[in-house]
Amino acid sequence: MRILIVDGSPRKNGITNHYLSLMHDQLKTFHDVVYFRVYEKKARPCIGCLKCRPNKECVLPRDDAHEFAQLVKESDLLIIGSPTYWGNMTSVLRMFFERCVPVFEYIDGMRIRPQLTGKKAIVLVNSAAPFPFHYLPSQSAGTVSAICHILKAGGIQIHRVINIPNGGKGNKATIEKKVFSAIKKFV
Ligand SMILES: Cc1cc2nc3c(=O)[nH]c(=O)nc-3n(C[C@H](O)[C@H](O)[C@H](O)COP(=O)(O)O)c2cc1C
Repeated sequence: MRILIVDGSPRKNGITNHYLSLMHDQLKTFHDVVYFRVYEKKARPCIGCLKCRPNKECVLPRDDAHEFAQLVKESDLLIIGSPTYWGNMTSVLRMFFERCVPVFEYIDGMRIRPQLTGKKAIVLVNSAAPFPFHYLPSQSAGTVSAICHILKAGGIQIHRVINIPNGGKGNKATIEKKVFSAIKKFV
């Protein structure tokens, strides 16, 4: 199985990185896993030319967003992690998604078709908001919703969502249990 882990945090030793790395350590024994840190990559933002529609490659000069698009296409399981910034995913993570819309959906006028049916995803988000306020749409529930919106547009099945409150300062054993439970099916 090919697995793509996308780390949307700028913090190398932050909460997102910590829990995604736990998953990576378990999964790499059994699968072909790529760990993609968006803040270490070089990519330009989408310029909105729409030349990629309905199903072409981005026309910008080759950069790491082209690599991201290829990895998404080739992977069976996507694990997307992001801290909550202003009730959403981080801007750089979103930029990578914006650069590859046709990888997710074929859009031609009124014809919109998901392109990634059959793939699965695990979504891991975290925020500073304490329990239960992280469930507010203006906090990390907004991050979950924004990421899942894109994945579902591609027809990807959401296997599990992990939403960590309070800057990860809660019970670490409980969080780890949720993380391991999310990947149990794949190890
Ligand atoms: C620019 C910015 C915006 C943020 N916005 C929110 C927010 O809307 N809600 C929230 O609960 N925390 C917010 N935070 C806090 C982060 O989500 C929190 O520190 C998170 O645990 C960092 O995750 P990481 O260690 O994986 O990078 C924000 C932090 C930054 C830097």
